[in-house]
Amino acid sequence: MKILQGIDLVKVARMEQRINGRSGQVFLDRVFSVAEQAYCDSKRMKFEHYAARFAAKEAVLKALKIRPKKNQRLSGIEVGREATGKPFIKLSAASRKQLRMPAQAQMELSVAHEHEYAIATVVIVIPGIRDKK
Ligand SMILES: CC(C)(COP(=O)(O)OP(=O)(O)OC[C@H]1O[C@@H](n2cnc3c(N)ncnc32)[C@H](O)[C@@H]1OP(=O)(O)O)[C@@H](O)C(=O)NCCC(=O)NCCS
Repeated sequence: MKILQGIDLVKVARMEQRINGRSGQVFLDRVFSVAEQAYCDSKRMKFEHYAARFAAKEAVLKALKIRPKKNQRLSGIEVGREATGKPFIKLSAASRKQLRMPAQAQMELSVAHEHEYAIATVVIVIPGIRDKK
């Protein structure tokens, strides 16, 4: 079994600047799915929720040891929500292929946000694969 872990911290004000800045909608569509945008836009502190989702996507890349490219398309790494509100990572078929995510991989996501910062941690468990020490 292989266990991978990633963490990312995002400044909420930076996310707000990026979204409200030039080509904000292009950025939104490149990084966030339609469902993610609808969820965040429905919230009073929407930039906290956007920042948390951005952190989650970066934490997935970090767990996989992938350096994000400038202007990388991240909308295929989507943060969904269970009925309880617990978040989870949902990969599009294209992202699964691009990230070379094995079909049997299980991912656990946790996020938190508070005014200035949002943080996300991701644990990826891949059964049946030996970890290289
Ligand atoms: C849900 C809970 C983790 C939110 O904590 P918080 O301090 O208000 O907010 P945080 O910034 O730490 O976390 C917010 C994120 O928690 C996540 N979250 C929400 N419900 C969750 C749950 N049931 N399990 C795990 N994570 C959850 C969400 O991703 C949310 O961010 P999002 O709305 O952008 O997706 C917290 O209320 C809790 O511990 N609940 C469990 C116990 C409970 O239900 N108590 C009810 C009051 S008695």
